[in-house]
Amino acid sequence: MKPTSKIAIIGVGQVGGAAANAIVLSSIASEVLLVDSDIDRRDAQVQDLSDVAYSQKGVTRVQAATYEEAAQSDIIVITAGSRHFFGQCSIDYTARNVSMVSNIIKSMVPFKASSILLIVANPVDLLTSIAQELSGLPRHQVLGAGTFLDSIRLRGLVAASSIDVYVLGVHGEAQVTAWSMTKIGGSPIAKALLPSSLECDKISDECREKAEIIMRTKGSTPYGIASVVASTCTSILMDKRNIRPLSHYQPEFGCCFSLPALIGRQGIVGTVHMPLNDEEKAKIDNSAKKLKARLEAIHK
Ligand code: 2OP
Repeated sequence: MKPTSKIAIIGVGQVGGAAANAIVLSSIASEVLLVDSDIDRRDAQVQDLSDVAYSQKGVTRVQAATYEEAAQSDIIVITAGSRHFFGQCSIDYTARNVSMVSNIIKSMVPFKASSILLIVANPVDLLTSIAQELSGLPRHQVLGAGTFLDSIRLRGLVAASSIDVYVLGVHGEAQVTAWSMTKIGGSPIAKALLPSSLECDKISDECREKAEIIMRTKGSTPYGIASVVASTCTSILMDKRNIRPLSHYQPEFGCCFSLPALIGRQGIVGTVHMPLNDEEKAKIDNSAKKLKARLEAIHK
């Protein structure tokens, strides 16, 4: 069956370009709209990605669009500001991205009533929380990439395909691996042979540091994030109802961060509240409170 949905990518540098490429290769959308403040870059990406579309029998049409046109899409992916500038202190980086993403969203309002907004730029949980406030969309229609890629990375580091593991909380320094809930081959990890608790800490650290190691050389992590974007768009458009650790609104804290979420055509269909152990829960609660305080400081 031919797809009929429209996906817009806002910001088509390395990350947005890779996300658009992954979406075109997945053949899940009839149209992919590219938006960028740099018109020459946008148009060059349209030309390049059109070739990918032709290679996929032209299922997807890649087009340039304005912010207003993009706001009428089924899914809008905001990648603008995804490149991390090392040497720039994180307060500057955050302020720059808060201002960039806020301005983008303000220039797109009003969105189509059923649009789903997917935030990729960092700090992803803060930006998702802000996007939610500014977009005028219902809370369940605004989500962020959160710790989805971290959870995939962790699975890779454990090198076990049948591991059921989630990285949760606020993406970055404070993210938490839910080891207490991890299962290998259906058994709780504590009952399986691997890994020891020491190894668990080491693996979590490696997972946390991976993005920075990649970004130090490349400036961004385009392919990893692109796979997460394409997978999330597929879950939404096909109403897959699978569980993904994506950033979404947590009423108890008044901000967005990642807990396992049921994803479908409406966006976030439900949250899975895992019975985490006390230490994991305390770490997540603590970082969520700090995130809320940052959000309130921005509002002052
Ligand atoms: C990542 O984890 C930077 O958030 C991005 O790759």
